[in-house]
Amino acid sequence: MCGIVAYIGPKDATPFLLEGLARLEYRGYDSAGVAVTGRTGGLKVRKVKGRVADLAAAVPARFKGGTGIGHTRWATHGVPSDANAHPHLDGAERIAVVHNGIIENADELRAKLTADGVVFRSETDTEVLSHLIAAHVGEGVELEDAVRAALGRVVGTYGIAVLDAEQPDRIVAARNGSPIVLGLGEKEMFVASDVSALVRYTRQVVHLEDGELATVRADGFRTFTTDARTTHHQPSTVDWEIDSYDTGGYEHFLLKEIHEQPGSVERTLSGRLDERFSTAHLGGLNLDARELREIRRVKILGCGSAYYAGEMGAQLIEELSRIPAHSEPASEFRYRNPVIEADTLYIAVSQSGETYDTLAAVQEIKRKGGRVLGVVNTVGSAIARECDGGMYLHAGPEISVASTKAFTSTVVAFALLALHFGRIHDLSPADGRRIVAALKALPDQIREVLAQTEAIAELAAEYAGSAGMMFIGRVRGYPVAREGAQKLKEISYVHAEAYPASELKHGPLALISPELPTVALVPDDELLDKNLTTLGEIKARSGRVIAIAHRRPEDKLADHCVLVPKSEPELDPLLLNIPLQLLAYHAAVALDRDVDKPRNLAKSVTVE
Ligand code: AGP
Repeated sequence: MCGIVAYIGPKDATPFLLEGLARLEYRGYDSAGVAVTGRTGGLKVRKVKGRVADLAAAVPARFKGGTGIGHTRWATHGVPSDANAHPHLDGAERIAVVHNGIIENADELRAKLTADGVVFRSETDTEVLSHLIAAHVGEGVELEDAVRAALGRVVGTYGIAVLDAEQPDRIVAARNGSPIVLGLGEKEMFVASDVSALVRYTRQVVHLEDGELATVRADGFRTFTTDARTTHHQPSTVDWEIDSYDTGGYEHFLLKEIHEQPGSVERTLSGRLDERFSTAHLGGLNLDARELREIRRVKILGCGSAYYAGEMGAQLIEELSRIPAHSEPASEFRYRNPVIEADTLYIAVSQSGETYDTLAAVQEIKRKGGRVLGVVNTVGSAIARECDGGMYLHAGPEISVASTKAFTSTVVAFALLALHFGRIHDLSPADGRRIVAALKALPDQIREVLAQTEAIAELAAEYAGSAGMMFIGRVRGYPVAREGAQKLKEISYVHAEAYPASELKHGPLALISPELPTVALVPDDELLDKNLTTLGEIKARSGRVIAIAHRRPEDKLADHCVLVPKSEPELDPLLLNIPLQLLAYHAAVALDRDVDKPRNLAKSVTVE
């Protein structure tokens, strides 16, 4: 969503702010701005509608200061415009605020401030904060106390960084529902909403907790709560490679991340396969075998692709451990007053670890006494910290808005969990060995699929102009179809429907025509004959079919076929999904879409 960066130290803040903002652009944005202050006093501010490159072009050479804050905005209150871009200032132009999140009582606060004579310059909810903070510092209050007092009047979510032209020796940051991370340098400090903005400068970071504030000075930081109690943090080390933040010769991050999957899957598996007992070794679950045996149900929660990966995970857990498992969108779960059961294991799935709906679902479960594990990619993220235990994906940073390598690694993580649960229950050593061997084979099998990129690109170019596409799969193939449709629509904007193949004849068959091609998942498993019958039904209605299969169907049943290497049936969905990523990517390229930053979307949805 929006991005925040801030710097305080002996150097000029502006180059870091602009570079940091550029690194956060992948989160989605519509405008950007910076404010700096220095020894000469006063604020220098530039903000523009558009890209960080437009902002950089608008920043003059003399725009210098040792303390600064910056922001990329994704509009929630008010249209994208120069005026609505952050930072937002008070009337005297002393205080500058950048903010991620939503202030729910902004209208009420704005009305009160307006009645007091405050003149607003933007339509944003954020601007109320600048005026509230300014009112307190105007009375001689220290910046941190002024921010605390202002936040005390605010209802909603925020990650903020605040600059005071008259106290340039500090930045105050605060978090409530929107991530804030402090970066520790040598006599300099950084603040950001995402570690990707910092990793070129420091690997030592501190994640603020909800309800926490920090006063950040060049030589260190102090954290405290909204009621002024001091808190303590041990810095953690970011272990992601710096070159993960570059396209590394690929045209887009998305293509790079698709091609990184053999390596990211190897990392997810690394050190976790126990060949002696044909099981998985998972250190971070914080659940022993006895506790695991008491679990009667598994409920998986995530949003978007994380939810679909959870659907694949639920099938793996049910098949391998025979524990009933189900995946539900966290965004729905959190609003329906869910029944929390003591013998249900809840699992939250998130690449970013910051998705607000998923975090809120975790908090609701924990509030009611439930036990939650996290399957999360970002180490130290809010969801990871909130969970009772879990697994990190180790997929490496995922920059492109569309999730690919994190999706695949999530399914691999679920396969490991399912194997572990299964071997504690009734999965035989022979079946355990079968799954271990299949997991080990995955990276090379993914390489085999990726080797077909050119052929898939040609197919994508041929079909990209379609008004829409149907994706179908049966049982294990259905979540694959859902994820394939999601990927296509999110990056190419081509309408895509996903249906269980078994449901086609109960309604959607009416849509089938030469204008609506179907992508069909046709694994060589116990449902192959059923799937082939469905292809026959589509062809009988002159529908065009792209089959993603282990064996080429007869010509009369499919117009095109992408062959995928065979795994064990339980793991086949994972490989069947890879061609769909390539199909979506190349369709988006053929349609000249902004592949890494699709319209209306952000990488991590940290608002309601
Ligand atoms: C994936 O391609 C999407 N951009 C989106 O559905 C994403 O998976 C979802 O917002 C959840 O994000 P998370 O994994 O960071 O929680």
